[in-house]
Amino acid sequence: MTPPLEKYRADFPFLAREIHGQPIVYLDSAASAQAPKQVLHAMTAMRESHYANVHRGIHALSDEATRAYEKARAVVQSFLNAEHEEEIVFTSGGTEALNLVARSFAAPIMAEGDEIILSLLEHHSNIVPWHMLRKEKGVVLKWLECDPAGHVSLKDYEKLFSKRTKLVAMTAMSNVLGVSPPLKEMIKIAHQKDAAVVLDGCQSAVHQKSDMRDMDCDFFAFSAHKLYGPNGIGVLYGKKAHLEKMPPFKGGGAMIASVTRDAINYAPPPQRFEAGTPPITEAVGLAKAVEYVSEIGLDKIAQHEKELLHHAREEIAKINAIRILGDEKSAALLSFVGETAHPHDLATIADRKGVALRAGHHCAQPLMEHLGIGATARASFALYNRHQEVEALAKALRYAVEFFA
Ligand SMILES: Cc1ncc(COP(=O)(O)O)c(C=O)c1O
Repeated sequence: MTPPLEKYRADFPFLAREIHGQPIVYLDSAASAQAPKQVLHAMTAMRESHYANVHRGIHALSDEATRAYEKARAVVQSFLNAEHEEEIVFTSGGTEALNLVARSFAAPIMAEGDEIILSLLEHHSNIVPWHMLRKEKGVVLKWLECDPAGHVSLKDYEKLFSKRTKLVAMTAMSNVLGVSPPLKEMIKIAHQKDAAVVLDGCQSAVHQKSDMRDMDCDFFAFSAHKLYGPNGIGVLYGKKAHLEKMPPFKGGGAMIASVTRDAINYAPPPQRFEAGTPPITEAVGLAKAVEYVSEIGLDKIAQHEKELLHHAREEIAKINAIRILGDEKSAALLSFVGETAHPHDLATIADRKGVALRAGHHCAQPLMEHLGIGATARASFALYNRHQEVEALAKALRYAVEFFA
């Protein structure tokens, strides 16, 4: 029987590539996923026939581009089940979205001694903006510990709150261990303590439903390029009531209501946060990517990835000199370390066999330190991967382990 997602492989032109004379086995989608031809074609069509700058023109092409750009916002609104279209801000990526929250939401309301809770699972994108506030304003970072598989305890979490807690910055899925914290409970607790919650959804948005009204988070950030879309665009969802109170993040064209010699009035959200010419073609690509995964079904994709991951765990567990991190609750990705080979060496040998892995600290140095390692090798799965590729991965790793024995 043909596996249910096999037919979608035909949508991905990159699969025609060979690497070092072998069919490509791309297991690095958590860093950046490949785009289907539907996304690539939508972007080309936009550039070829409908492109102009948005908002400012009254000619037909500008009107078409503006409508395409704003339609993309509506598509993302529906994807996130956000209440209002104005709650969707286009940014250059997940990193910029998180920095926007730090600059425009947190900085104005926080004073020396105020506290931010974050977890050891965080990517640097959800650490460094808060560290910058620590340096600038003397805010205090309080770290939620996790066990070796990345699980956090709600009891530990609750203990971190004080009267000075203003914000919780939490990953919705770890890019190293693939685990998701109990977000709904965490958000509820934060709100009971009058703290806002920003979620880093860069990994989770690809593998699970992100329902803003159900989760009730205050902010949610993600990047299009991990969701089979283009690089250069991301999304910040923010509750309307917050966005309306927030000052802009960057100044320039398109974000003002009026400018005189002596005064400026800012445009309402989301334009207030989209200074300059936005990523227009990329927004069209993002919308197409969202439509693409939604048509297949995120749950179907997640089920497929779960089966691949289970298979990979079983195969890699048979290799003595490799230790897998995390447990069965992880989603879509698998980190491991070699007993005799450095993760970079494992990934280098795998590459020679056509298998693309990522190795390093994955921009999660506090987690690496907590786990007592410097780096991991990581295989991450997407809708276009298949079970033969898991076998190719295991074969490449067996070869690498023998090579370094
Ligand atoms: C969990 C997580 N957060 C944030 C980011 C940053 O995303 P970007 O580089 O697209 O801004 C990444 C990228 O790897 C990530 O995995």
